Amino acid sequence: MTNFITEKFEETDEYDKTKDLTSETFEDADAYDKRSDQQYHCGLQLIRELGIKHGSTVLDIGAGPGRLALHVAGLIGKEGLCFGIDRSHERIKIAKRRAESRQISNLAFATGNGTNLSRFIDGFFDTVYLNSAFHWFNEQNRLLQEVHRVLKPGGRLGFTSQISNYPERDLREIGDSFLKKKRVDTSALSQSSYSVTIDEARELLDQAGFRVLRLELRPSIEDLETPEDAINDILKKRYKNLSSSQKEELRNELIKESKKIEIDGKIKVVRDKLIAIAEKGDTSKAIAAGS
Ligand SMILES: C[S@@+](CC[C@H](N)C(=O)[O-])C[C@H]1O[C@@H](n2cnc3c(N)ncnc32)[C@H](O)[C@@H]1O
Repeated sequence: MTNFITEKFEETDEYDKTKDLTSETFEDADAYDKRSDQQYHCGLQLIRELGIKHGSTVLDIGAGPGRLALHVAGLIGKEGLCFGIDRSHERIKIAKRRAESRQISNLAFATGNGTNLSRFIDGFFDTVYLNSAFHWFNEQNRLLQEVHRVLKPGGRLGFTSQISNYPERDLREIGDSFLKKKRVDTSALSQSSYSVTIDEARELLDQAGFRVLRLELRPSIEDLETPEDAINDILKKRYKNLSSSQKEELRNELIKESKKIEIDGKIKVVRDKLIAIAEKGDTSKAIAAGS
């Protein structure tokens, strides 16, 4: 039974090369996998606080390369089911390989958009979570409505989300003002993320019909990074659509300016995290918000 459901889910993989907007290569996905300890540890805390029980049905949205989902599969045991979806085909490939190499039968992955959970019936899940992924969704209302629909009454949603990142914020200011001076239209640049404040998160959860159980800002996680890593990261995200010559010019400017925020060749990285845990509450409210 378990294998049947997870296999059916994997068959619904929505990957379509012609529609792939993530433009993520295997190398990008692999690099994330190797650099995601911080996200993983933050996720372990979220999972502990969600109180996931043995035998539960769980959905991981924005599962990435699947490390956390693998941990959850161990917690819920053979009677439980864990599904992971992510819009990045390359990350899902890594996740599938990870699960296959350990011969785990209660865990399945497929490519897909978290705002469309139509492959799941209403009220299927005990728990749905998004670890370090909520701020990547531009349609957060729709996402929460879908999550609400697939949760059982009393089921729980948990997410951790980035509030604002340092030095990304500073590098973005430096980069955008440099491009403005060069008369490059910055309004067309890709939005790095859709971070929300605590109040905005509360409103979104409320509108979707959730009862908020916990919503707080966790002490920031501080780290040190080389300026090259931080600059490569922002060039790949916010400035990905610039021409290669514009990118090179911008890279030089960022290298020059980042010297001002460097300490002993490294820059401080601060990642504030928002953690939210909510319960599926009154369904009539969610329907009103969605109508
Ligand atoms: C920072 S990564 C977190 C990955 C994983 N949850 C972890 O803890 O390591 C954010 C993930 O969200 C995924 N994502 C962003 N928008 C998405 C969407 N609309 N639907 C599905 N996945 C999405 C990205 O592809 C990426 O893998």
